[in-house]
Amino acid sequence: MTNNEKLDFILTRSSVRRFSSSLTPEETETLLRAAMSAPTAMDYQPWHFVVVNDNAVKDRLRSFLPYAKMINENCTGIVVCGDISLYEEVSKRDGEDNTLYWVEDCSAASENLLLAAHALGLGAVWTGIFPLESRISKLRETLSLPENIVPLNLILAGHPAASGRVKDKFNKSKIHYEKF
Ligand SMILES: Cc1cc2nc3c(=O)[nH]c(=O)nc-3n(C[C@H](O)[C@H](O)[C@H](O)COP(=O)(O)O)c2cc1C
Repeated sequence: MTNNEKLDFILTRSSVRRFSSSLTPEETETLLRAAMSAPTAMDYQPWHFVVVNDNAVKDRLRSFLPYAKMINENCTGIVVCGDISLYEEVSKRDGEDNTLYWVEDCSAASENLLLAAHALGLGAVWTGIFPLESRISKLRETLSLPENIVPLNLILAGHPAASGRVKDKFNKSKIHYEKF
């Protein structure tokens, strides 16, 4: 595989919102392995992942997540969560506020997961939870999340029924050299 072909996995990814079947356990583990290879601040790896295959739980999620209505029996839900207690401790120790690093860490893991899905011919879409308090609290209740675990997003993943539209987002005006 050429270097350009490898880069294509990044350049041709797009959100997939229609699925024909959910992930197998092996596919789920492969995607989570990719997610957990992401970089994290101080290598704290603050993530937890709640895999949702139960259709009753999916129905419940659909009832309060307005932009994740496409979750159904043909896809797997993966809620990417962060353990906020790790950075609270380090913030106290270092006397500076590190508490939001979990968001960046879990976002990096989420993007790895989306890219891995695309590389394997699967499809996935990130749907938003954090920082919307009403969604966080309903998800907390639905999934029995402990106090220190905050959901960042709900990723839907599965075998694509329709491919997404790839957008060329390269924009030279967003690049600044030496000064903004
Ligand atoms: C923080 C965040 C929240 C998002 N929330 C949703 C969502 O709730 N529902 C949805 O269908 N897509 C959601 N998306 C996906 C974006 O709509 C999508 O990435 C964007 O339109 C660009 O399209 P692409 O991913 O195909 O390049 C979200 C993406 C991010 C990064």
